[in-house]
Formats: sequence, structure tokens, C-alpha cells
Amino acid sequence: MIIIFIFVLLSSVFYFFLRKKRSYNLENEHYLITGGSSGIGLALATVAVWLGCSVTIVARSKVKLEKAKESLLSELKNTKQKVLTFSVDVSNKDNDLVSIVKEAEKCSGPITVLVNCAGTSVCHPFLDTPKEQFSKMLDVNFLGSVHMTQAVLPLMKERKSGSVVFVSSIAGLMGLYGYSAYSASKFALLGLAESLQMEMKPFNISITVSFPPDTDTPGFEEEMKNKPLETQLISESGGLFSAEEVASNLLNDILDKKFMSTVGFVSKFICTLCSAMCPINSFFDLALQMVTMGLCRVVGAIVLWNFDKIIKQCAVEKEKEK
Ligand SMILES: NC(=O)c1ccc[n+]([C@@H]2O[C@H](COP(=O)([O-])OP(=O)(O)OC[C@H]3O[C@@H](n4cnc5c(N)ncnc54)[C@H](OP(=O)(O)O)[C@@H]3O)[C@@H](O)[C@H]2O)c1
Repeated sequence: MIIIFIFVLLSSVFYFFLRKKRSYNLENEHYLITGGSSGIGLALATVAVWLGCSVTIVARSKVKLEKAKESLLSELKNTKQKVLTFSVDVSNKDNDLVSIVKEAEKCSGPITVLVNCAGTSVCHPFLDTPKEQFSKMLDVNFLGSVHMTQAVLPLMKERKSGSVVFVSSIAGLMGLYGYSAYSASKFALLGLAESLQMEMKPFNISITVSFPPDTDTPGFEEEMKNKPLETQLISESGGLFSAEEVASNLLNDILDKKFMSTVGFVSKFICTLCSAMCPINSFFDLALQMVTMGLCRVVGAIVLWNFDKIIKQCAVEKEKEK
């Protein structure tokens, strides 16, 4: 058992370093990224542009879109590359996303990768969460992704090629204090993605779900303003990553057609633990999961026990303050 464990561990390290050395050329590719005007979405658009890709970014604010476009145009690597922007609210089912997709394809060629990154968060204990926030989370984080995917997927299906990405969150794999509304909307993406990957296999369309940990973005800064202390202390344990780090890692995973994508040791650990019936990423990931799952569950139980301790401690402090 120990020999198998060491073999899998060494193979994974070897694989990890081999993969890092690969370089990609994305000329002739076209990425459509919702939420591409800020944070993780913009970082992904930037990395894609560095690799020679055309990008279309979709968000609501025209000001942010223009600023993002300017920054992307300054990074172009060849004359064939195009940067398009569309201002639209993806959560509104009445918006004509099909026309946007058609226009984007007419100008920049077939969309090869769709990244559903537009999202928002709210962080309050359940009973303090305004009712409308539950629908807002589902409308933007879940339905926004459904609407754009329904607009792009028929074209990919016809061409029998493409990748669809859903940006969830570590909070979309495990419910955390304060995230009842947000977590539920991000958990929904995993169910959607698992079903879709089965349906899309015959059409050579890969599905990737991204589970970023805390990432330093304008959206994260906004969320921090009202975050309960309990949530702050719990999520601190996963570390804070840069949008560039998350985006580069995600791009590699999209190109490798991985189903689960994340970055950082703690997040990889949580993905391993939650992977039981998820589609298989690679032989190495499967082997690692087989060998470490039991141990991960024990460590997971200790982590959860520590989270409970944090919450109890905060409750005691709050009681004292009263
Ligand atoms: N940052 C983190 O710590 C973290 C961790 C895990 C997961 N995530 C997820 O990663 C994704 C990106 O997060 P971020 O931190 O980079 O956020 P961000 O900086 O706030 O960027 C969000 C992007 O989504 C767009 N957007 C929001 N609502 C939209 C709507 N209804 N229609 C169209 N576009 C919309 C925003 O532009 P407009 O406002 O102009 O529309 C913006 O371009 C989100 O799905 C988030 O849940 C983030």
C-alpha cells in the first residue's frame, strides 16, 4: 500500500512539472467569457490573448468593458486577434444572447471555448440574508450560465467541438458559514455540469468546472466589506490567490479537458475529497483519489471540527459583547 502511495505521489509530481513546461498556441481560437471585464474573467481573457486567441467579453457595465478592452488590445500578439465586448445582463432570460453569439462568431470566428464566469456573491448568516438575495444568486450565478450556454452550445454541437466552463467556487463544493445563498447557487452549477458532460460526450464537447479559492479581485474586495468574522476565519485557511494564478491554472485545465479545476493545496484537497462521482480528470488524479480518499476524509473531519470550534468561539465572544 505504501509503495502504491509513493508511486502515485511521485507520478503526480512528475506529471505536474511536465505539464507546467507545455506551451500552447491558441491562434484561431475564440474564447467568449462572461464576466470578462473584471477579476478572474478579465485575467483569463488576458492569458488567452497572450496565447494568440481572440476574445469576446460580456458584462453589464459599458465603462468596465471599455477599460478591459483597452487593456486586452494592448496585449495582442498577432494581427488576426480580435477583442469584442457586449454589454448585457446574462441573468435576464429575455435578453437576446443568441444574436450576441452570432455577431461575435461573424466577426471573430467560431467560439471554441465558452467561460461562464459572470457571478456575484453575498455573505450573511441565513436568517439575515434578504429573501431577494437568494433569487439574485440563482439568477446571476446559475441561470446566467444556463442562458449563455443555451445560446452557444447548439453551434458547438453542430461543429462537434468546443469547451464549456462554469466558474463555481470552493463554496460550491462545501457549504460554509454565511454562504447559504451563494453556495446553493454554486452547488447548482456542479449538478448542471455533471449532467451536461454526459450529454455532450458524443459531440466532443468538454465541460470544466472551476472551483476557485479566495481570489484577490474587485468582487472579493466587495464581499469582504460585510463578511461575518466566522466566514473570514474559516476561509482564511484556504489562502488568497491572485486572479492571474487562478486564470492560468484554469486555462491549462480547459486545454487538458479536465472536469474539475482548482488551484492551491487546500482547494485540491477539497476537490479530491468531493470527487467521488465526478467525471474523471486523468489517470493520475484517479489514482491519487483512490489512494488518498480515506485519509482525506479523516483530515476533512478534523478541518470541519476546527471550523465548528471557530464558530463556537465567535458565538461565545458575541455573547460576552451583549
Ligand atoms: N474572487 C473570489 O474570491 C472568487 C472565489 C470563488 C469563485 N469566484 C467566482 O468567480 C467569478 C468571478 O469572480 P470575481 O471575483 O472575478 O468577480 P468580479 O471582479 O466582481 O467580476 C465579476 C464579473 O461578472 C460581471 N457580471 C456580474 N453580474 C453580471 C450579470 N448579471 N451579467 C453579466 N455580467 C455580470 C461583472 O461585470 P458587471 O458588473 O459590469 O456586469 C464582472 O465582469 C464569479 O462567478 C465568482 O462567484 C470568485
